[in-house]
Amino acid sequence: QTGGGEDAKRRAGESAADIPEGGDVVGLGTGSTAAHAVRELGERVDAGLDVRGIPTSFQSRELAREVGIPLTSLDETDPDVAIDGADEVAADGALIKGGGAAHAREKLVDSAAERFVVVADPTKESEQLSQPVPVEVLPDARVPVADAVRSAGGDPTLRAAERKDGPVVTDNGNLVLDCEFGMIGDPSGLARTLSATPGVVEHGLFVDLVDEVHVGTDDGVDVTRY
Ligand code: A5P
Repeated sequence: QTGGGEDAKRRAGESAADIPEGGDVVGLGTGSTAAHAVRELGERVDAGLDVRGIPTSFQSRELAREVGIPLTSLDETDPDVAIDGADEVAADGALIKGGGAAHAREKLVDSAAERFVVVADPTKESEQLSQPVPVEVLPDARVPVADAVRSAGGDPTLRAAERKDGPVVTDNGNLVLDCEFGMIGDPSGLARTLSATPGVVEHGLFVDLVDEVHVGTDDGVDVTRY
């Protein structure tokens, strides 16, 4: 796939930032593409738009604070719309998320939203999902979950931190196994298997959740509705 890059991500983010209306609560996604939407929303708040945000991660909370979006939480209300990125988007709208290890809170916020909008560049699109599936696990569950992933036909790798000796620790204090399954022919079935494994906090397969996908291109935005 070609056509990735910051301009495509920015177009997608700005296109999704058009959606929230005055009074809306917005789920604020994680990653570089969603960040464009959050920054654009911040400018609109600055210009008088009355929205509140529910962050999906430490990163999106910090960015929302920086650009001046008032925050609320799922304790108070569900989002009207959630805007979030993805690591892979299949033709049927199934997603893989969790490249930034934020997928547990992302799934919580995105699935609570009335309308879930994904923002991406063309490098994320594929016919069928095939990227490794991030699986957040309780620290004590790393070995048994890895065994269960192998039994399900996957190859798990504990995600290592880049600037620390040892593993990535999520915003929730857990670990991440990146699980290679090759072509994922039955994402719903795999999602059920992973969800049913004790010690799995959340996995990065988002099936039947997306309402629309905004893909930034070289000169515009392609919108697909599901
Ligand atoms: C975070 O854990 C992921 O689910 C992100 O939403 C995903 O990695 C997208 O990030 P980019 O927009 O930076 O590719």
